[in-house]
Amino acid sequence: MTPLPVTQETEQRLFFHNYARLPIAVTHGEGVWLVSDDGTRYLDMIAGIGVNALGYGDKRLVDAISAQAEKLIHASNLFMMQPQFELAEKLLALSGLSKVFFANSGTEAIEASIKIARKWAGQFGNPDKKEVLSLSNCFHGRTYGAMSLTAKPKYVDGFEPLLAGTGMINFNDISDLEERVSDKTAAVFIEIVQGEGGIHRISQPFIDRLKELREQYNFLIVADDIQAGCGRTGTFFSYTPLNAEPDLVCLAKPLGGGLPLSAVIGSDKVADVLSYGNHGTTFGGNPVACAAGIAMINAIHDDKLMENAETIGRYLNDEMQKLAAKHLQILDIRQYGLMIGITVNKEAKYYAAKALLKHVLVNATSVNVIRLLPPLTISREEAQHCIATLDEIFTEEGAE
Ligand SMILES: Cc1ncc(COP(=O)(O)O)c(C=O)c1O
Repeated sequence: MTPLPVTQETEQRLFFHNYARLPIAVTHGEGVWLVSDDGTRYLDMIAGIGVNALGYGDKRLVDAISAQAEKLIHASNLFMMQPQFELAEKLLALSGLSKVFFANSGTEAIEASIKIARKWAGQFGNPDKKEVLSLSNCFHGRTYGAMSLTAKPKYVDGFEPLLAGTGMINFNDISDLEERVSDKTAAVFIEIVQGEGGIHRISQPFIDRLKELREQYNFLIVADDIQAGCGRTGTFFSYTPLNAEPDLVCLAKPLGGGLPLSAVIGSDKVADVLSYGNHGTTFGGNPVACAAGIAMINAIHDDKLMENAETIGRYLNDEMQKLAAKHLQILDIRQYGLMIGITVNKEAKYYAAKALLKHVLVNATSVNVIRLLPPLTISREEAQHCIATLDEIFTEEGAE
């Protein structure tokens, strides 16, 4: 039988039109290189949208997945399973928090957090204490609760009515923060580094004031570390250097080593909020995904990948600054470990398409931001290859 052609025509015929897929069919990967069906090797500065922290084909990860798959692929949360327990223990040790809930995707971790926050707030006898706030320019996911917390109209328009009792605070605007939070606030959701929003970090004064207001009004701080967490910014949790002390933390993307897995980690404050049947998921905490998660976290520590994220991130930033001095198209560069945003003078997808032709994968976000989220394993030579390619693209364009 002839295999189905993996082309854009077939894609259009088969699927809802919600993804703008790149015009390449990928078959496998090696390290930070992704390989297409015609054998072309692409330097991957996207890493499955920040998922593939270890790059492709890490033997420890593959072995952990195969070993667990041979033993047990799924049993459900009707049972106790070693890999879930081990991973939960690791996450509690890393965070210093008290309880874990596993789900399958980032947006599900956000949904669970909204539910935990509202139920937690219910115990204080104020029926209006249901408000869940987020920050302008944020992204928390695409299910109804998470989408209602998400800022950009492109993710929201046409899907109204949104979840009631949600609202937005202007990013890093302390006076707006002071105005918006009140006794009615159950939780404030934050991304320490906004990813989809174009790589913008919350300021220290904003975090400090948020913590003071938490004391005053008794609400939860929820850190959405779905994109910035698991070592990408140089610390396991992106909030650590800012001492944000969240009550709930959401992890996903790299957590399952490429398999679907997310976690909500909660403090003592919320430890007893959920009771039996209150919340759950059939697949959440799948033992194969948890085994992969354990291998992924071990590799991050064993290979000092957080240090690598710091070093290579700084190198990419330094080199990009040199390019910015040379090319007027570059307007701004923001770098936190291996989360890098380059603001350019036109739609970033124009440059992403040029880079694709040169076999380098970069992502365009927030209209005019080129986003780099490479595997944490990236070497200096590979980073240099990315810089040289961007240099070439800006030079060629300048000469046009
Ligand atoms: C910060 C943040 N929160 C939530 C999500 C949603 O995660 P998922 O796509 O796994 O539902 C994403 C995905 O990009 C994200 O970057």
